[in-house]
Amino acid sequence: MHDTTPAMVIAVDGPAAAGKTTTSLVLARTFGLDYLESGKAFRVIACEALRRRRPVDDPDAIGNLCDELFADGDSGSVLASARYTPLALRSPDVTAAVPVVARMPDVRRHITALIHQWAAQHRRCIIEGRDIGTAVFPAAPVKFYLTATTEIRAARRVRQEPGHTYDIVLADVRRRDLADMTRTIAPLTPANDAIEIDTSRLTIRQVLHRMSAVCRTRGIDNPTPDNHISPASPATPST
Ligand code: CDP
Repeated sequence: MHDTTPAMVIAVDGPAAAGKTTTSLVLARTFGLDYLESGKAFRVIACEALRRRRPVDDPDAIGNLCDELFADGDSGSVLASARYTPLALRSPDVTAAVPVVARMPDVRRHITALIHQWAAQHRRCIIEGRDIGTAVFPAAPVKFYLTATTEIRAARRVRQEPGHTYDIVLADVRRRDLADMTRTIAPLTPANDAIEIDTSRLTIRQVLHRMSAVCRTRGIDNPTPDNHISPASPATPST
């Protein structure tokens, strides 16, 4: 019989390089959760717009592109596609274009639907992004909002993606923070019931310790053979 129980979602939101990906991947392993990096879908749209030479700031053109990309209604083909390499999705051009498409209502509607579809198939999951706890799954039983100072996040990003200079990365992080926090639809902001963790002066281990303790308190248990499903796609450690 089709299981109509809502998916059990842990939401991990926050700005770039706050520690979302690293911690989400470990929590996924620890608690047997499937992991989704929602930013990848936004990056796919920006990447395809550039490849197909569509104007990234034209909502009609990007709306049509979304219709083309998501025509088959299969969330897995976009969200778990190996077609898009981290190199392509994280190029400076894509990174600059992604907040522009991310503020468009059509884009957010398409991606929210994709994430809902994915979560319905995966049941116990951890999803990172900007609006998971506020807009995509406002009833998620566990919500984290990770943050850190802009300078520390920029320095982390330079270490993760060598080849970029600190000043350029800092400017990008500032630009994206502003764009993500001030857009009209689903802006980046902590949900009222999110647990906020400033990771500026914490090690990954310390952050994980806090997050795991919250998960256990909220009844998220370690996997049993029956409820554990393997992650669908390799993740790109990015934040
Ligand atoms: O890895 P990083 O934190 O740099 O960014 P990302 O997760 O790949 O997301 C890239 C961009 O997609 C963000 O700056 C947002 O503009 C957008 N995004 C969003 O609007 N909502 C989400 N749930 C996830 C990403």
